[in-house]
Amino acid sequence: MRDSTAIEAAETLHRITLRFEDGVEKEITVEPREFVLDAALRQGVPLVHQCRSGSCSTCIAQVVDSTVETAPNRATSLIAAEISEGKRLLCSSYALSDGAVRLAYPSTLIYEGEAKILSASVSGIEWPTASVAKLTLKLEGETGFSSRAGSASAASVRRLLDAPVKARGDLAPHDRRVVERA
Ligand code: FES
Repeated sequence: MRDSTAIEAAETLHRITLRFEDGVEKEITVEPREFVLDAALRQGVPLVHQCRSGSCSTCIAQVVDSTVETAPNRATSLIAAEISEGKRLLCSSYALSDGAVRLAYPSTLIYEGEAKILSASVSGIEWPTASVAKLTLKLEGETGFSSRAGSASAASVRRLLDAPVKARGDLAPHDRRVVERA
């Protein structure tokens, strides 16, 4: 499909059914010029993704009975054979018709629960460069912390950012937090 045609088709709202590997189906609406991944996340359907720029292929899906096309001027890391098989990157694709895409993972793969704030102590600190710190964190107590595909964790060490260089290792315990989003 030519770019101009794709843009025209993307001016219309479309319904896309996301078919997960475990048989679960979720229908989302994709707004004009909205990427399918963005539409799914906006409607509370978590999908596996990372870069959101078309470069990691994590958001790959198989188009089964719809037209989902890479947006004009959007990069894709897919090879030509994958594209001709109907694979698309949902972070970079518009829906050009109603229909469905198939995802190669179960609907339960990503659990979007409440973010948990956990305490941890900094058990090690290295400085690969003057402005980058590599921290080793030790979680306190039984946390149930686990990392799964699609989960994200963020560490906030506020004092570290403000601390002068000579005080790098002097972090107060109450400033040490790990945020887990399971
Ligand atoms: S999230 Fe990386 S290519 Fe789509």
